[in-house]
Amino acid sequence: MNDVYLDLVNRGWAKGLAGRLGLPRPVRLRRYERPGDDAPVGPVLVLHDATSRPAADALARTLLGWNLDVRRDPTEPPAQGRWGAVVLVVDAIATPADLGDVVLDLGSTLRALAPHGRIVAVSRSWAESTKPAVAAARRAVDGFVRSLAKELRFGATANGLLLADDIDVAAPSVVGAVRFFLSARSAYVNGQLLPIDSAAGRLPADWSRPLADMVVVITGAARGIGAATARVMARDGAQVVGVDVPGAGESLAAVMNEVRGTALQLDITAPDAAQRILDHADARYGHLDVVVHNAGILRDKLLANMRPEQWHDLMAVNLEAPLRMSAALAGQLGPTARILSLASTSGIAGNRGQTNYGAAKAGIIGMTRALASELARTGGTANAVAPGFIETDMTASIPPIGRQVARRASTLQQGGQPRDVGEALAFLASPQAGGINGQTLRVCGQNLVGQ
Ligand code: NAI
Repeated sequence: MNDVYLDLVNRGWAKGLAGRLGLPRPVRLRRYERPGDDAPVGPVLVLHDATSRPAADALARTLLGWNLDVRRDPTEPPAQGRWGAVVLVVDAIATPADLGDVVLDLGSTLRALAPHGRIVAVSRSWAESTKPAVAAARRAVDGFVRSLAKELRFGATANGLLLADDIDVAAPSVVGAVRFFLSARSAYVNGQLLPIDSAAGRLPADWSRPLADMVVVITGAARGIGAATARVMARDGAQVVGVDVPGAGESLAAVMNEVRGTALQLDITAPDAAQRILDHADARYGHLDVVVHNAGILRDKLLANMRPEQWHDLMAVNLEAPLRMSAALAGQLGPTARILSLASTSGIAGNRGQTNYGAAKAGIIGMTRALASELARTGGTANAVAPGFIETDMTASIPPIGRQVARRASTLQQGGQPRDVGEALAFLASPQAGGINGQTLRVCGQNLVGQ
């Protein structure tokens, strides 16, 4: 679906008019097109508070290893152009007073932050500390990042990592997440703090094909987010099995031909759906590593008007099928086992007319948490992605005014593209994300709902 307003305000005269009238001025986001887009456009400044120097040094070395132009002094702005990104390392702070100088340094660089620039904060999980000052300082970083994200403009984003206390900044998932948040792959992720729980995982041999040799099954792959995820994961090296209902067989075949994957026509509510997927993957590839529970339906109605089938049908597809399939597949996946599911911001914040959908998507978040501990025993992970408003056939069914409001109700002032969700899923599927487990990452442009 085209966002006509976004197209309009990116043309010369309408841009100026929107500015004068104080209307939203969403910019076209910089998305990942080719391997070079992994890098920010411009030098990367690494800042740290007085207590966090060792981690900042280590991260700066990692960034240098990626051939980035790494700087450490905020008072020496780049001779030409602007900062491509700022990495804020505050992992050792013990009191809120530790934060002041470094965030003000960061503030002094913001006017020179490039369009589509990136801010990535590296801090520690506040929930782990029993010391009030430490917990306050860490939690302050959370509020700081979310607020800063709302101040950035021109497609720039701010996100953060929350490391568990025993995790080193050289851990694969820290390095992997820094790279994801610095890159154009995370174009529509904004204001998020991603916990990193363990040092599990490994760095890919080739950053442009992190999913090489992995076999992925994606449900609902005939269109929308499922089809886009198939394209992103195939680009990243995965072999893709696409699943969709027989009625969508033709478009499923077209998508699978495009990504050199294989199509499996299957209704995921069938009791033997998991077995049929396993048999298919086994016959074609000999193994299965990643499951993406993407298929989903809407049956919006106020609860007072909801017919029984509108509740039951939705639950069957959106929650009961993923539950049943996960139970059957969890022990059958390869060494980089990943169960990834589509939640929704409606499952986090609730949404009028979506008691069924909100319940199912919140259920997905619960399921993901519980699966995480089960998969961790064999080195796997379970995570979810919660999209906000994404431009698909599903959201095209929303009445026009509601659609316009939903698009603008995020810091980035626009809906996301299906591939934005695919990028987040591909990152969570990758070997470098092995230390991220049980989490729900929002891909919502910092949707104002529930933030
Ligand atoms: P879509 O409606 O464009 O595509 C869904 C696909 O799932 C279709 O190809 C459909 O045939 C398939 N499907 C439905 N029931 C099935 C079944 N029983 N067995 C096999 N396949 C089945 O949806 P979209 O927008 O791409 O959404 C994908 C997922 O993302 C869904 O789980 C949705 O709830 C979630 N999501 C989407 C958001 C959005 O803004 N588009 C926002 C938040 C979550």
